Amino acid sequence: MLTWKDSLRNRSLMRLASFTDEEMLNLVDLAEQLKARRRAGVRGDLLKRKNIALIFEKSSTRTRNSSIIAVRDEGGGAEYLTRPDIHFGKKESVKDTARVLGRIYDGILFRGFSQKTCEELAEYSGVPVWNGLTDDYHPTQILADLLTIKETFGSFKDCTVAYVGDGRNNVANSLMMGCAKAGVRYVCCTPRELWPDEAVLAEAEEVAKRNGVDIRVFDDPVQGVKGANVLYTDVWVSMGEEAKSAERIRLLRPYQINMDLMRATGNIGGKLMFLHCLPAFHDFNTEVTKESGALEVTDEVFESKYSKVFDESENRMHTIKALFVSALCDRSSI
Ligand code: CP
Ligand code: NVA
Repeated sequence: MLTWKDSLRNRSLMRLASFTDEEMLNLVDLAEQLKARRRAGVRGDLLKRKNIALIFEKSSTRTRNSSIIAVRDEGGGAEYLTRPDIHFGKKESVKDTARVLGRIYDGILFRGFSQKTCEELAEYSGVPVWNGLTDDYHPTQILADLLTIKETFGSFKDCTVAYVGDGRNNVANSLMMGCAKAGVRYVCCTPRELWPDEAVLAEAEEVAKRNGVDIRVFDDPVQGVKGANVLYTDVWVSMGEEAKSAERIRLLRPYQINMDLMRATGNIGGKLMFLHCLPAFHDFNTEVTKESGALEVTDEVFESKYSKVFDESENRMHTIKALFVSALCDRSSI
């Protein structure tokens, strides 16, 4: 039997703080149930005749495909809309587009630049809107990360996540809040120039304190990762920041996750994993790294037994499905 929280019906997800701690953990739990159900070969009808618009201003492999398959698996449909496909923000305001799409679709997943655009879609569409990444937050990613931690370690108890890299990007902001809500200690290893925004940090610290854990920020990665169970990184240059590439690479070189840093946790041979939201620059096989080679993580770590990045990536689909089901399905148990 599947069960989920009734209170999530018709709810939007702008950032993880949109949900209570319990609601967020309940989503992770539902995703776990849906994953087992799919593994058992069940394709249900939890989203039968539900239609979801996917508005994407930025590229995506995981979020786009996870959303399409999540809804299709359960009997619904999704339409992928990029800026050149529709009048969005060009010949038609975000507010008008929201009101039009809200009359046609049951929900909207948005990936783009401004958090404000995502919030405007939610305000005017009248249907649930889910943030599939903005410049500020990437909440659906963190649901998948939490599921990966839970299924690998069995629970969130006595777990420390060390994020190493650009400490103030969308993934780092959401990961910090997700850890705080799940009662997981969070350490951010990042140069001073990229320390988390003070307000974002203060909000997460309050939640962490309530859940009996702390958040610490270090500029020395070797010191910061001591005792960590999860080493997590993301690209050094997020989508939309390409002009800052050279400066970022210079700043973040000392923050590459390699085997020395994995060893610096003191947990080799114990409770330790590597996570990355992906895409990752771990080898020479991309246009960006064909000359430079690995950036934020070495190939050795990426391909090691500690790396759970493809479980994490698969979990994007199960967690996005949980989000759609809990918001759009008429029943809250089946
Ligand atoms: N992690 C993630 O959001 O991947 P995509 O950019 O491929 O969607
Ligand atoms: N911080 C990255 C995440 C990609 C999934 C970006 O915004 O490009």
